[in-house]
Amino acid sequence: MVARVVVYGVGPIGQLITRAAFERGFDIVGAIDVDPQKVGRDLGEVIGLGKTLGIRVESDADKVLRDTKPDIVLHSTGSFFDRVYPQIMKAIRAGADVLSTCETLAWPWYRYPDLAELVDNYARSREVTVLGAGVNPGFVFDVLPAVLSVTLTRLDKITVIRSLDASKRRYSFQKKIGLGMTPSQFAEALSKGEITAHVGFAESVLLLASIIGLRLDRVEESQEALIAERHYETQYFKVEPGQVKGVVGHGSGFIGGREVIRVELRACVGCEDFEEVRLEGEPSITWRSTGTLGDPATAAVIVNLIPRVLSARPGLITLKDLVNYSYFTL
Ligand SMILES: NC(=O)c1ccc[n+]([C@@H]2O[C@H](COP(=O)([O-])OP(=O)(O)OC[C@H]3O[C@@H](n4cnc5c(N)ncnc54)[C@H](OP(=O)(O)O)[C@@H]3O)[C@@H](O)[C@H]2O)c1
Repeated sequence: MVARVVVYGVGPIGQLITRAAFERGFDIVGAIDVDPQKVGRDLGEVIGLGKTLGIRVESDADKVLRDTKPDIVLHSTGSFFDRVYPQIMKAIRAGADVLSTCETLAWPWYRYPDLAELVDNYARSREVTVLGAGVNPGFVFDVLPAVLSVTLTRLDKITVIRSLDASKRRYSFQKKIGLGMTPSQFAEALSKGEITAHVGFAESVLLLASIIGLRLDRVEESQEALIAERHYETQYFKVEPGQVKGVVGHGSGFIGGREVIRVELRACVGCEDFEEVRLEGEPSITWRSTGTLGDPATAAVIVNLIPRVLSARPGLITLKDLVNYSYFTL
């Protein structure tokens, strides 16, 4: 039977997810969003399909979920579990599995242990599965190095470096990394939560550690602005010399004061697109790619995970429960 899918959040990422799910033959039965520019319009039109789908984007989530009874909700409205959890609870109440791009849901016990327990208990009681996934967290900084580590007989340290050209990313990505702001505007907006830059360094470190069985005793994360030395222009922003052209940040995991996991992100206008995974141990290896295209990759990860989530155990799970092929620590 083809799974019945509701998309919850039809922003740029939700649109890519919807299109990928539609093209892969899933039965899209409903769409939820609060943006007045989308509510009331046909989903096919909103995602630029070139034809209507006979599904109207609606803002009343409870009604959509009650009327359509989906098997799974593909959720992409926000990055912070404490803000999106009421939406996730609605989907659970409707008896649907939830697959979300919410970054902090990738390892929810780090920032929100109480909420994680609440959602886990509720999902178990309703016999549904909730999973946070995507390209990062969800692949580049965590699942990818975990899988690559399977070729080592001794693992001492994992370093992942991801560099991406922000000018190729969606408007909301360029906005959240502060393009065109002055350094002080960036610092203030970041501290007030008006922009987030990258969310999920710590979640990726903890997810990776859990897959390979490393018991970390400390995790840290940080990020700062990269300043333009010349004029840049993207489809959405103009960046003058002295203004923010992107961000650089990292997450680290430590055991006994030794850094055993380090994930680094450099996202700026004009940055090179690549990922590099360095595994130190026996044997040491370096793996490098020409760069994963983050937005379509997120949609692909979500859609490819649908069957896995539909058959997963009930409760709040992480990709650790689905990835079973890596180096292991006794
Ligand atoms: N894990 C990963 O690898 C990964 C990758 C890509 C993106 N993400 C995350 O996925 C999320 C979606 O990305 P995006 O770029 O599409 O974000 P976006 O541009 O903010 O779009 C989100 C959409 O959801 C709507 N929305 C917000 N709150 C809602 C609610 N309570 N009920 C229904 N709809 C609601 C928004 O409407 P308004 O605009 O009116 O608020 C908007 O249409 C972001 O948090 C992003 O950081 C994660």
